[in-house]
Amino acid sequence: MSKDKNTFYLTTPIYYVNDAPHIGHAYTTTAGDVLTRWHRQKGENVWFLTGTDEHGTKVQRTAEANNVEPKVWADKLVKEAWLPVLKTINAANDDFIRTTEQRHTKGVQAFWELVKKNGAVYEGSYEGPYCVGCEEFKLPGDLIKEDGQELCPIHSKPVEMLSEKNWFFKLKNYQQPLIDHYTKNPEAIQPPSAYNEVMAFLKQGLDDISMSRSAVSWGIKLPWDEKQVVYVWFDALLNYLTAAGFGEPEDSEAGKLFKRIWPIDVNLVGKDILRFHAVYWPAMLMAAGVEVPKCVFAHGWLLVGGEKMSKTKLTGIAPSQIVDYVGADAFRYYFLSAIRFGQDGSFSWEDLTARYTAELANGLGNLASREAAMIEKYFEAIVPKPGELTAADQVLVELIKSASKEADEAILKLDFSTGINAIKSIVEAANLYVTEQEPWKIAKDEANKERLATVLYCVAETLRAIAILYHPIMPESTAKIWNILGANESIGDIAKQKIENVGNWGQLPAGSKVIKGEAIFPRLVEDEQ
Ligand code: MSP
Repeated sequence: MSKDKNTFYLTTPIYYVNDAPHIGHAYTTTAGDVLTRWHRQKGENVWFLTGTDEHGTKVQRTAEANNVEPKVWADKLVKEAWLPVLKTINAANDDFIRTTEQRHTKGVQAFWELVKKNGAVYEGSYEGPYCVGCEEFKLPGDLIKEDGQELCPIHSKPVEMLSEKNWFFKLKNYQQPLIDHYTKNPEAIQPPSAYNEVMAFLKQGLDDISMSRSAVSWGIKLPWDEKQVVYVWFDALLNYLTAAGFGEPEDSEAGKLFKRIWPIDVNLVGKDILRFHAVYWPAMLMAAGVEVPKCVFAHGWLLVGGEKMSKTKLTGIAPSQIVDYVGADAFRYYFLSAIRFGQDGSFSWEDLTARYTAELANGLGNLASREAAMIEKYFEAIVPKPGELTAADQVLVELIKSASKEADEAILKLDFSTGINAIKSIVEAANLYVTEQEPWKIAKDEANKERLATVLYCVAETLRAIAILYHPIMPESTAKIWNILGANESIGDIAKQKIENVGNWGQLPAGSKVIKGEAIFPRLVEDEQ
């Protein structure tokens, strides 16, 4: 039985607590937040989950290096770094799961018990390379050779050789079911480059894979063999289920949540963890008889000097460094508009500054403040009643209709840059309209008062549409624009405005009281970065 069509469940990966977040991590969460806010403004019931991945060798070793117990280390990092970053980027997640929570450990044990009962787990031994950075058993073709050493291509660090007795998951059994599933549902892995990569990997053939570790102690014990812990990825992937209430009684709050939101609509991941999400994870679900996610979307990397930004390589930039400089809204806007989602992109302070200044401060911010100043000056801060619309005015009316549709289609496909460009085209058209109509000239002749009213009304009404469309991307600045327009009183809460209705012209009532506020996108102070 599938869930209600009006429910949207999105997850981000859960983040390792070995270190503090950098903008690569914040990028995934920002994209998830924008998309879920967009779906909320489509009137859907949204569930947005994020969290932290706290078990495994990587976290254990970091804790040891800091002379504390892993749980103490995890508590500290969650409290001091991972929860605060959600505030920094203004993410509105509905839940935050930690893999050390009881609800998770209980669910993981129940899940693997079930898979074992279904005959998909057996005892064996593993010998081969392991990358602690990736927490991954590596396959022969995965590694690069350098100076006689085998290195992980993501971390550029030597892999470790493991020889362990542990429990195996019958991954091989799911090769054909996965190929069949993805052949029937090509939209289940996006973008297409990710789909092709996974299909090629599946067609090479799969081997069974260790689902437990005997040499690691920091993890969730196997219920049937307490000397082993669940392999960290096969613990972590289950967060999407355990946080959603899997296995809980149907009449409990958690059980009802599960029924309402499962399966996942978008499993958002970076391309480095695609294989876990598009191969191992659905295979595990198939083994347990649980419906698989509708779509896994793999985004690209933020690069520094052509390589994936990472703390290990000391190239990480903290999200607060950027947010302190341009604010959370511009952070969100920049990363989703400047880089095509699904492809790699480089961050640079110069590009950020240039786009902030041109598109936000001089583009949107200036439009709103000019308009507020003119309505104050010529109409005592009251949105005037428009007269008949001319062809030039109609251009705005039509553009809002077409651009909002284009933005909606693009953003639903996670093509954020195209979506934002469509909205930006309305801002540009409105600025051009003001330049061409020259309201300050019209104002010189009292006889033209009605035309002046129409022009200023058209701009205010266009700002209404822009504020609604940009709200999921820039919640704070658009709330300020809404406030300037007096729309809280005359229309209602901005977050409740539906994307579908944006194109209906004339929703901002004449008579709204304009409130001039501080600059929405203040000029940047260069040396703050
Ligand atoms: N703990 C695992 C995920 C388990 S999900 C069941 C993990 N954690 S992570 O902290 O290393 O990475 C989490 C996310 O951050 C991934 O989606 C990853 O792609 C993203 N990023 C980390 N560095 C990145 C960049 N430099 N650029 C873009 N995103 C990157 O993997």
